[in-house]
Amino acid sequence: MGDLYRLDGGGDTLVLQQTAGAPRLIYWGEPLTHDLAGAAALAERVTRGTIDGGEVFDLFPEAGRGFTGQPAFECHRDSGDFVTQLEPLSAVQDGQRVVFRLADPKAGVEVAVTVELDQQSGVASFRSRILNRGPTPLHLDWAAGALPLAFDDLLLFDGRWAREFKTSRQRLPAGMLVRENRTGRTSHHSPPFMVAGEPGFSERNGETLGLHFAWSGNHRLLVERMRDGRLQAQAGEFFWPGELTLGEGEAYETPILYAARSSTGTNGLTSRFHPFVRTRILSDRLAGKPRPVNFDTWEAVYFRHDLAELKALADLAAEIGAERFVLDDGWFKGRPNDTAGLGDWTPDPAKYPDGLTPLVEHVQSLGLAFGLWVEPEMANADSDLLRRRPDWILGVAGRKQPLGRNQYVLDLTRPEVFENIFEQIHALLAGNAISYLKWDMNRDLTHPASGGRPAAHRQTLAVYALIDRVRAAHPGVEIEDCSSGGGRADFEMLKRTDRVWLSDCNDPIERQAMQKAFTIFFPPEVMGAHVAATADHTTGRRASMDFRAMTALFGHMGIEADVRAFTDSERAALKRWIGVYKTHRALIHSGRLSRQPVSDPAALAFMIAGDTEALASYAQLQVRANVSPDPLRLKGLEPDATYRILMLAPAASPTASDPVLVRGEAVQASGQAIARTGLPLPPLRPGSVALFHLTRMDQDP
Ligand code: GLA
Repeated sequence: MGDLYRLDGGGDTLVLQQTAGAPRLIYWGEPLTHDLAGAAALAERVTRGTIDGGEVFDLFPEAGRGFTGQPAFECHRDSGDFVTQLEPLSAVQDGQRVVFRLADPKAGVEVAVTVELDQQSGVASFRSRILNRGPTPLHLDWAAGALPLAFDDLLLFDGRWAREFKTSRQRLPAGMLVRENRTGRTSHHSPPFMVAGEPGFSERNGETLGLHFAWSGNHRLLVERMRDGRLQAQAGEFFWPGELTLGEGEAYETPILYAARSSTGTNGLTSRFHPFVRTRILSDRLAGKPRPVNFDTWEAVYFRHDLAELKALADLAAEIGAERFVLDDGWFKGRPNDTAGLGDWTPDPAKYPDGLTPLVEHVQSLGLAFGLWVEPEMANADSDLLRRRPDWILGVAGRKQPLGRNQYVLDLTRPEVFENIFEQIHALLAGNAISYLKWDMNRDLTHPASGGRPAAHRQTLAVYALIDRVRAAHPGVEIEDCSSGGGRADFEMLKRTDRVWLSDCNDPIERQAMQKAFTIFFPPEVMGAHVAATADHTTGRRASMDFRAMTALFGHMGIEADVRAFTDSERAALKRWIGVYKTHRALIHSGRLSRQPVSDPAALAFMIAGDTEALASYAQLQVRANVSPDPLRLKGLEPDATYRILMLAPAASPTASDPVLVRGEAVQASGQAIARTGLPLPPLRPGSVALFHLTRMDQDP
């Protein structure tokens, strides 16, 4: 039996065993008090009917060691060599991290597999580093994080533009299920996350494992039932042919595969991922920093930028309660629509004859911070930049490529392109009082080639480097991560951004569903959520102000509409809801979010609980199932504590026979009663929300 390595964190123990090859994960669950050897003995399996001794399956399965499933690592040399048989060199534990070094001198390959368990949250990270020790180029075909799965009930994520974070459930039949993304961004259709759990797991119940592959380029996520019945999940970068070649002494490091487990369904995963994101991904930079109410100009004016109009919008936005004014697309040189201008990051002299200063100063005089939309990775052919340097794009010389939103991707792997774009953004930030960038990215990388070679991997690293450089030069500037809505939402982007624009769809019916999926991994303070026009601009569906506002309330709230078009009473209602957001944002952005299962399939409920108070929403999306709605049974409060419950919305019912709570009066009840008996709900129409505030009575606030 090989040496055992134990990591503890977030109330879990994870045990790794050194084998004749890569380490094996032999235990991950509730704290093990002493019995590591016992766990190791139990981790053995009967293996007959395949190759002698069974197939070696560990955290880095290799074909060269007799593994016939999908290996975690595939490489070759021009000589034809492709077999590796890694053997352990060393294993070193340093606190929460173990690094296993493996080598195959004959193949000229060295690998370091690093496993880390976050002490506070229990989220684990898996990452490998592959080093070419040989004298000839080593071509990497695949290099992934591989994890054994105990169960095959899968919660998968897909979507599209304006319908991000869609989920589906499926059991894995024989063979492999592959989710592949070749768009060069995290993608709308295949975000790199997944949950695998015991059959029938739910938000509240069941063993689950949540995976999040932190990479903003191409990827492949796969789940395989191997021929001997065992299950594995893998996540790695998708490489174009010949994309990743290591010269002698060169190394490749995989992106990090983050994973968390829970015995209490997807809410259990959330209770690990949210604290982890707050402390380890965002490095606490949003902690205690109220998320200002954004006013975004996009859906108010699109490309029609008129200074007087924008000032008037800012005035109204300030009056309603906005705290940050974000000037969206349309402000820069030669940008009448989306066919021109990208690449030239100076104000359009026709729209802004005196630059941005008059608008910035006006906005600031109202007490609002100023933010600006940019799309630094892109250029239109109709721009000074590409007229001067048409060769600065990613692509293959002499080959046509389709455009995406009429634009090209700039080749940021070339230092001169990188420098030019950095200098332009730097000059903008240095020359104007801009404290926020909405950093957009609106097309797929269909021809990600540089210098005649595939460059999607290098481009992704260059994007990270560009954002990092901008941040380092302007540490006070917050950055919003946008990619045609939520096309680049992942933990690696979030390390260097402060907000994710979830979707270009602001229809609250769609948003409720997206928020349900997104919040499995991401906390509400990074979820951009705006109140838009009555009729959503992507669905055309109309929704009440209360429904729109209460949906946005559970994220980083903002406004994105021509507020002049709202009636006085709509503006007054929005102002009230922004007041509610400001009152409760400290709770919303630091509390424990849970998705609360409800019996009505046409409804969704959330709760965010802090130590002394909680907010709960119940959204009726379609016509309710019952005349008398089932109560909202909120789980996750202190069972023995007493709470004062108040229904904040809808307006109190005047009907004397309705429950006291629904009539707008406060009720006191224990956490236990709230969980078991539940809160009576008002008779909600489709497209409306009930909102409850709960205050813990037996504690000083
Ligand atoms: C993308 C974004 C929108 C908006 C437009 C501007 O579609 O997702 O929010 O910024 O670009 O062109």
